[in-house]
Amino acid sequence: MPAAPTPPHDVDTVLVLDFGAQYAQVIARRIREARVYSEIVAHDTPVAALLARRPAGIVLSGGPRSVHVEGAPRVDPALFEAGVPVLGICYGQQLMAATLGGEVARTGDAEFGPTPFTAEVDSDLFAQAPAEQTVWMSHNDTVVRAPAGFRVVGSTPGTPVAAFEDTARRLYGVQYHPEVSHTPHGQEVFTAFLHATGARPAWTPHNVIESAVGAIREQVGEATVLCGLSGGVDSAVAAALVHEAVGEQLTCVFVDHGLLRADERAQVEEAFGASSKARLVTVDAADRFLAKLAGVTDPERKRKIIGTEFIRVFEDAGREHAPDAAFLVQGTLYPDVIESGSATAALIKSHHNVGGLPDDLGFALVEPLRWLFKDEVRRVGEELGLPGEIVWRQPFPGPGLAVRIIGDVTAERLALVRAADAIVLAELAHAGLDRDIWQAFAVLPAIRSVGVQGDERSYGHPIIVRAVTSEDAMTADFARIDFDVLARMANRIVNEVPGINRVAYDVTSKPPGTIEWE
Ligand code: XMP
Repeated sequence: MPAAPTPPHDVDTVLVLDFGAQYAQVIARRIREARVYSEIVAHDTPVAALLARRPAGIVLSGGPRSVHVEGAPRVDPALFEAGVPVLGICYGQQLMAATLGGEVARTGDAEFGPTPFTAEVDSDLFAQAPAEQTVWMSHNDTVVRAPAGFRVVGSTPGTPVAAFEDTARRLYGVQYHPEVSHTPHGQEVFTAFLHATGARPAWTPHNVIESAVGAIREQVGEATVLCGLSGGVDSAVAAALVHEAVGEQLTCVFVDHGLLRADERAQVEEAFGASSKARLVTVDAADRFLAKLAGVTDPERKRKIIGTEFIRVFEDAGREHAPDAAFLVQGTLYPDVIESGSATAALIKSHHNVGGLPDDLGFALVEPLRWLFKDEVRRVGEELGLPGEIVWRQPFPGPGLAVRIIGDVTAERLALVRAADAIVLAELAHAGLDRDIWQAFAVLPAIRSVGVQGDERSYGHPIIVRAVTSEDAMTADFARIDFDVLARMANRIVNEVPGINRVAYDVTSKPPGTIEWE
């Protein structure tokens, strides 16, 4: 019985119509960076429904189609007559041009990549931008004639109408992608558009908390709420928000499956235990999980066992400590909502969340992060006073260290990988690299290697260090960590973790590798 949470209200909103671009999320994030709430909606949402949201502005995203192709997504011309400011980007600009009587042509002059762009700096769109800049282009079609009433305010060598505006109707269009980091002055376009919309920059962590707390109280009333803490940032911030809203009505359950990183349990207990009023139940289930995992080497079987056992342990704890709970907190984030709901988004994430809770446990769901991007979750966590170790924690798989131990998961092997992992993270933090890196960790392979330690031949275990940069875990690149930092890590690992005599660094990107080794 999932509840139907409503989007934040009483906040100026810019809607992004998603025409199937992988960029729609990035556009919404850019707008939110300017502290204006932005939400992605399907491109075929009827204009009346869009206007019912009373948007301060609307952005038409890019998309993979040509306006000349039959069946390509269209926009209802009524959208441009509603008096709401509209910014069209790439396909969105072409659609605006084609709908309002301009001309879009397949000139054969496709542009891809960084392109020199000249702006009219006396325009509304480029008042704060330099006259000459580099922009990121990715298009085949081109607007060759702006519609009546529009002024051309930007061009590139291959695209004479690379930007246009009609300041009277507050309609704007750019052919390039201001949302991507490869367009260094892109944010200025959003700032200019947001200025034209008059939207108030009210999307701050403080206001997000206020709005979430109000919504949670309304949804939950006097009922008891149960929350599973994983040690990760999402469940921690979700729990902290619910606690802020309903205090002692919340019971948090933290399942220690024995596959956690060093200090993780202590940090959760510190943040949610004695120091706050939240009821925290820690279930020490390490032995139970280890027993189930004995002799299991297949990664998918490990995942299945851990996932099933996790739900069992959690349900038992819930029944024992919060038998009347009617609600379950889930740390669902906005990208999960978009990816599961938008038929048009080209970017579909298929990753399973093994080691989390399914949404069919018989509770109504409280999803306080449903409208937030990850960076917003972290800022809200900071504002709520959660410790940095939790707020800035890297993503960690539900099955934990079990998928970082190739082969048998035993208490001894867990101790090895956990100790090495702590050194990897400590040295990264020491080098100031921890926030630049998506994930970094140690892997224990199922082989041994020969070494010399203290003048004696050793036959020990190698450790593989894995560190990647990534935006969303869909693709990743191995992190170009300075050799001196790697050398310090390796040195400490072989000296401080008995039984390890060699350290290797994984230089594989994703694809073809995955981030985890299992
Ligand atoms: P891969 O290894 O597929 O991982 O490149 C992509 C992201 O997902 C995480 N991961 C998991 N998360 N349960 C989870 O909750 C899992 O079974 C699981 N396997 C991988 C991984 O850490 C990375 O962030």
